[in-house]
Amino acid sequence: MKRDVISIADLSTPEIVALLDVAARLKAERKAGLTNAPLAGKALALLFLKPSLRTRLSFEIAMEQLGGTSRFLGPTEVGLGTRESVPDVARTLGCYVDAVAVRVFAHEVAKELAQHCPVPVISGLSDDEHPCQILADLLTLKERFGQLRGLTVAYVGDANNVANSLLLALPRLGVNLCLATPAEYEPAGAILEQAHADAKVGNAFVEVCRDPAVAVANADAVYADSWYSMGQEHEAARRRPIFKPYQINEALMGKAQSHTVAMHCLPAHRGDEITDGVLDGPRSVAFQQAENRLHAQKALLLGLLGTPGLASWAGSSLA
Ligand code: CP
Repeated sequence: MKRDVISIADLSTPEIVALLDVAARLKAERKAGLTNAPLAGKALALLFLKPSLRTRLSFEIAMEQLGGTSRFLGPTEVGLGTRESVPDVARTLGCYVDAVAVRVFAHEVAKELAQHCPVPVISGLSDDEHPCQILADLLTLKERFGQLRGLTVAYVGDANNVANSLLLALPRLGVNLCLATPAEYEPAGAILEQAHADAKVGNAFVEVCRDPAVAVANADAVYADSWYSMGQEHEAARRRPIFKPYQINEALMGKAQSHTVAMHCLPAHRGDEITDGVLDGPRSVAFQQAENRLHAQKALLLGLLGTPGLASWAGSSLA
């Protein structure tokens, strides 16, 4: 049966652990100059309705490095839901390729594509979630700290798609999550409920507060993302004064522990959610996160398209 990854919740905890191990191995092999082509003859379509640098290029290069190929379909080419219905596009894509990576606005559209597509569909971001980003973030944290269990991540800012995926992944891996958001920008109740339930299983905790200083005090990593996501640019002027106290700057990092790293999924609005000094400073792991998009997605593609696949990895123990 084909597997889709529209939400990070579509991957079990053992599967995420195994994916991170495979990603680390693939990264080490790449650095050592080793090449092989486990996905020779396989093709990935990228159907993107929003701009992208990291997600597009890392998927394209991932397929190339694994011996496969990819084709990019941009926002003006397909007419998803206008020129042609979502189910018809999904079924047609399945006639040509072995997997589809999609970047859409409404999360429901990604789910509808997956429902009708005969091959695996991977979300490269929707308004609600960003599962591939979180795989790269977890790989980065594991590289930096050696293990995930027991770490604490402080997410400061808008409870957006990245925050949602962090909530659905970190607590069940034993990573504590403290979110500092303005009152009207906190996570949706259903996601928070799931995160609390996952935290019980993972022996972790999830907290939502208003004060960034409280959130970062015991954090090992402080995570910033845009105050206005793609499609919300018209809200930038209204949101800036609301989010100004949530900027990750030198003063806020000074309230964290000395070993605490600064994370950002990029692209950054420098001077808004994060300062140049933090993003370019020695505590920043933002470009390590960007690099790890490639290695994490190679593991995901291998898990979905290779043999043995993701299902056979599920026996892994927790990191
Ligand atoms: N982080 C991320 O998804 O980057 P892009 O929007 O450039 O793909």
